[in-house]
Amino acid sequence: MKNFTSIAELDNSVINNLIDTGLSFKDGSRNIPQFKDTNFVTLFLEPSTRTKSSFEFAIHRVGANKVDIDASKSSLLKGESLLDTLLTLKALEVDGVIIRSEQEKYYQGIEVNDFSIINAGDGANEHPSQVLLDLMTIKEHKQKLDSLKVLIMGDIKHSRVAKNNYDVMTKLGMNVKFFAPHFFKAEGYPYIDSLENEINEFDVVMVLRNQLERHASKEDKLQETYLEKYGLSHRLFKMLNDDAIVLHPGPFNRDVEIASSILEEDNIKILNQVNNGLYARIAILDYVMEGYE
Ligand code: CP
Repeated sequence: MKNFTSIAELDNSVINNLIDTGLSFKDGSRNIPQFKDTNFVTLFLEPSTRTKSSFEFAIHRVGANKVDIDASKSSLLKGESLLDTLLTLKALEVDGVIIRSEQEKYYQGIEVNDFSIINAGDGANEHPSQVLLDLMTIKEHKQKLDSLKVLIMGDIKHSRVAKNNYDVMTKLGMNVKFFAPHFFKAEGYPYIDSLENEINEFDVVMVLRNQLERHASKEDKLQETYLEKYGLSHRLFKMLNDDAIVLHPGPFNRDVEIASSILEEDNIKILNQVNNGLYARIAILDYVMEGYE
């Protein structure tokens, strides 16, 4: 069995195979594989709605069994190491575990034979299944990835999705730029200066949530004025290229980083992303069970 801990480290051929496989499971051109008598565990040490539930439904769709470990009641809280937790699960004939943790690269140095670790997000580092579903959504609507212009705007500093997407999209030949107010910038990436002047140049605009839970001050007054200054307001939305699509990894905060009034528009693809998340995670289970070239 394979691990799925980093998408940035996969070859382009494997990433493209995962994208196309996920889309073919969705459109029915390929049958969803069945992994009967296979056992997965979900272990989410940070909150999640989309990622956790879609992995759970994906496990159900491939005919495998699933047990969820309630992070607040696990023996990790008694000092058991992650390695010993995984060895314990392996002894219970578990085949793989899906983990979200605030610790970056929690999987580094952990190898359990014939057992799969699937990364559902590690701190500010990677969110590989989110990147896969984002790429599937873009390909589904644009029929290609190469040479598309992508703008990712918002709290870049705290976003694993932004940086992970940047690395993978760039590798795949896409042209990615960031926009962020100075307090949300991460060093070492290309930024546009003005949303008003430049947003109409992009094929894809991804908006990010302000990740208050990762901010030093939890009482962020910024939220009240953020939309008009830095978010995707109704006014800014009207400046988009007609063919542009808008993505958001979710969860979103209405009228903070994105205007509530635009959420029903045709080119807002946020719920398509959620739906593609189910098929992305079925493709990931197929990948860890079968291996792709
Ligand atoms: N996009 C994402 O990871 O959402 P959840 O935190 O709800 O899983």
